[in-house]
Amino acid sequence: MATLANKRVLLGITGGIAAYKSATLLRLLQQAGAEVRIAMTAAATEFVAPLTFQALSGHPVHCDLLDPAAEAAMGHIALARWADAILVAPASADFLARLVHGEAPDLLAATCLASRCPLAVAPAMNQGMWSKAVTAENLDRLRARGIRVFGPAAGYQACGDIGEGRMEEPEVLAARLAELFASGALDGRKVVITAGPTREAIDPVRYLSNHSSGKMGYALAAAAADAGAAVVLISGPVALAVPERVRHIAVTSAVEMLDACLAEVADADVFIAAAAVADYRPRNAAAQKIKKSDATLTIELELNPDIVATVAALPQRPFVVGFAAETENLLDNARGKLARKGLDLVIANDVSAPGIGFGSDDNQVLVVSPLGPQRPPRLPKAQLARLLIDQIAQAMAGPAPDRSPSAERLA
Ligand code: PMT
Repeated sequence: MATLANKRVLLGITGGIAAYKSATLLRLLQQAGAEVRIAMTAAATEFVAPLTFQALSGHPVHCDLLDPAAEAAMGHIALARWADAILVAPASADFLARLVHGEAPDLLAATCLASRCPLAVAPAMNQGMWSKAVTAENLDRLRARGIRVFGPAAGYQACGDIGEGRMEEPEVLAARLAELFASGALDGRKVVITAGPTREAIDPVRYLSNHSSGKMGYALAAAAADAGAAVVLISGPVALAVPERVRHIAVTSAVEMLDACLAEVADADVFIAAAAVADYRPRNAAAQKIKKSDATLTIELELNPDIVATVAALPQRPFVVGFAAETENLLDNARGKLARKGLDLVIANDVSAPGIGFGSDDNQVLVVSPLGPQRPPRLPKAQLARLLIDQIAQAMAGPAPDRSPSAERLA
């Protein structure tokens, strides 16, 4: 069953009596594993006090577009970037009309307009309003833009009428939102992903490593699991929780990572190398702690195995995706790695740019394949991972490249 584990959901509440059910919906989203923030329109606060949602969510409720203090804490743009999905429930007829016209007079509408993540609305209104042609036209226009419409349901309404227009029940809304993340693009596939740094021992207390936090690789593992794959995440030491439905193998050094990968890739369909593997390791790790003595210390290094190139050179190999951590000439270096390592796809990121790359919550990448480069927008790693998994699934479905080691590679 689909879950919302590790997902950030912005629950938008507009003015309607069904707003009282949004408290139950908030609880169900949390129980499904989501981290939930709330944005309310002024009309919604007339039905239920923001304090209710603040207490249940454990976070301040976002209500005012023009409140400098609230905007300084987490403004509508930051909120739009934070969310993996937005669900507006209840969505009044008036709010739906505002969405259609791209109006942004309040914080919730402005956040919806600024967001790039999936947006779903749960209409709730009197059956007379629901039956109007203009309401149907508005919803058709929203659907045509990719906005999901959940419900409404039919039955008794608060005003005493009976008919269509009731907000869909919270249980149904939570389940349908979870389904949004379950693309099925990798149903039945096995995906092996490396993540995090490796540590190369100098002596029993010191090591060589790098700044990888594992966030990109872990986000890819969660997205691949959401897409229906059986995921094995082979990870160096990081401080992250293992995503749900992902099998985790903990390793420390590059050699251990290679061994774990070789044990897993034989029946894999996709291999994604997001780990920042140390290129070199100390030739002789000292058995005892090296004592401070001379003014300088020389450590001789030897080359580590190249894990992704080794997997790509296997006679029966999966679709192989490498990363490229670069500080200059992104496209040329990525093309070079695609060719030299014999990869199907390279995802290049500029690790010298502030706010993206190592340790950051966002990333901006260049996707390089034999078909040419593509540059998705800068996105939070969770959202970017979903986009990348979709692209990988599409690339696998495309014209099958010759994956034999002897095949000529794109230069
Ligand atoms: O972990 P985060 O903090 O979220 O940061 C994400 C990231 C910047 C680490 C990630 O997006 C990334 O770029 N990972 C690859 C880092 C890297 O080692 O890049 P590279 O250009 O040095 O290596 C190219 C490819 O070869 C990579 O797929 C790497 O996993 C692989 N490689 C490298 C050396 C080696 N000995 N074996 C390998 O498999």
